Amino acid sequence: MSETLPSLIETTALLRSRRSIKPADMDPEREVDRELIVTLLENASWAPTHGMTEPWRFRVYTGDSRLGLAGGLQTLYRETTSATEFREDKHEKLGVNPLLAPVIIVAWVEPQVGGKIREIEEIEAGACALQNLALSAVAAGLGSFWSSPPLIYTPQFNQWFGIGEAHRCLGLIYLGWPRGDRPSPKSARKPITEKIAWADA
Ligand SMILES: Cc1cc2nc3c(=O)[nH]c(=O)nc-3n(C[C@H](O)[C@H](O)[C@H](O)COP(=O)(O)O)c2cc1C
Repeated sequence: MSETLPSLIETTALLRSRRSIKPADMDPEREVDRELIVTLLENASWAPTHGMTEPWRFRVYTGDSRLGLAGGLQTLYRETTSATEFREDKHEKLGVNPLLAPVIIVAWVEPQVGGKIREIEEIEAGACALQNLALSAVAAGLGSFWSSPPLIYTPQFNQWFGIGEAHRCLGLIYLGWPRGDRPSPKSARKPITEKIAWADA
């Protein structure tokens, strides 16, 4: 690995060009090499971690395993959504989206029960890891999309997914090559000056 660091200008360009690319805007036919996925996840793993607990975990779905994920998500949606809140379009999306992206990574954290690091810090570390993943994806030319359907926060999800009760799912990260025929999504942020207070002003 070269010791040459990207400049602030390059870093600014990289992180400001990260956009949420919806699975429907990814090329479902173009696979992502496993080595590249591993590199992205290694970069994710360089996130800060209080107490060096490295609480992040990833399960990678590609190919036919995406069918099982899609079916599972739909079943969980039916089981965890009240009749008044149930929406057919959301149910449909949960079944379709995993097949539109070539890679879906389910990310969760495993806080240590009774450990010295608070749960919120383990979740924060996991979110930092996912941002590392998203920025690395940009650098590789890949699109990514962080999805968090409410069902991922239910005990039924943990049971179906086979993780502990105290483990916390962070989301489904869709990865894929952006389709060339779609306009790049736009995004905006409010001026940062609205959010800064200078204590010495
Ligand atoms: C924790 C987290 C969960 C998210 N979950 C969803 C989601 O369930 N559905 C969705 O459309 N976008 C989700 N997003 C993506 C945001 O909608 C997106 O970042 C925002 O619209 C800004 O767009 P940009 O990422 O292109 O700048 C999530 C983002 C974060 C940080």
